[in-house]
Amino acid sequence: DTVWTRIASLSELPSNDVVAIQAGDRDIAVYRLDDGVFATDNLCTHGNARLCDGFLLDDEIECPLHQGRFDIRTGKALCAPLTRDLRAYPVKVDGDEVYVNLA
Ligand code: FES
Repeated sequence: DTVWTRIASLSELPSNDVVAIQAGDRDIAVYRLDDGVFATDNLCTHGNARLCDGFLLDDEIECPLHQGRFDIRTGKALCAPLTRDLRAYPVKVDGDEVYVNLA
């Protein structure tokens, strides 16, 4: 079974922006684009930086520390100095409720 954890109301997520949300014991970055909501781990895979403090350009998030970029839809690491992908979580939007699958 898929377990969905409610994390936010859609209306409280800023458009074309990223926010940090605590979900269970996890720090996740939640991105709202025009075509959907996406979620990844918030901690960069390269070092001690939070992606919610980074720069979102379309569907890429740039780490604030060394400017590594990830695809927010897949978590894929797109450039140096990144060597490891980011974990991306499935998101479900039901009305105004936003859920993630942390399993
Ligand atoms: Fe994110 Fe280095 S800590 S690119």
